[in-house]
Amino acid sequence: MIKFLGRKLENPIIASSCIATESVENVLRLAENGVQGAILKSCANYQRGDVSGKRQFAVGKDGFLYASSPFEKEILTLEECLSMLTELREKTDILLIPSFTANSLETSEWLPSCQMLAQSGADAVQLDFFYMGNLIGTENFGYKLTALLHELIAEIPIPIMPKLNINLPKDY
Ligand SMILES: Cc1cc2nc3c(=O)[nH]c(=O)nc-3n(C[C@H](O)[C@H](O)[C@H](O)COP(=O)(O)O)c2cc1C
Repeated sequence: MIKFLGRKLENPIIASSCIATESVENVLRLAENGVQGAILKSCANYQRGDVSGKRQFAVGKDGFLYASSPFEKEILTLEECLSMLTELREKTDILLIPSFTANSLETSEWLPSCQMLAQSGADAVQLDFFYMGNLIGTENFGYKLTALLHELIAEIPIPIMPKLNINLPKDY
């Protein structure tokens, strides 16, 4: 038997945050096909401007896949995620795990939004540190990262799941 987030699961499949989890329709389709939980497409507390680029994929001669996409195409607004979460909570009982990201390691940038996500029926919150790779050169980066995690763990009533950027040292 598989237990995760206090729930007995029928199988160990949880969809990671991606295109398949960026709309209510897509998540419901995952649920209909037996997926036990979904980490929703990452969101941030920002206003979307005009999107000038689009999501693009290309396969190089070496067989590797290259992708590029602007922040505003990839990252949902907090409002979009809250509305998706609220609708999904009514329509499915699979594990719903929104993913939140911010542009700094200040607790004030993370805590209020993560609390709102927790209050809207999330089973856990993923912290998406993908963009934190840009901050790695800043003073006391490691200390600030762990301080942020300590504060969020203390204040958020549901589990938090930090997702490290591949560019961050594995020791973190
Ligand atoms: C198109 C696309 C969009 C993604 N968007 C997100 C995202 O918003 N948040 C996130 O945490 N990960 C995102 N990911 C990363 C995936 O969740 C996953 O970690 C990554 O694809 C590695 O897993 P894989 O090797 O099975 O593909 C995205 C991946 C893809 C391909």
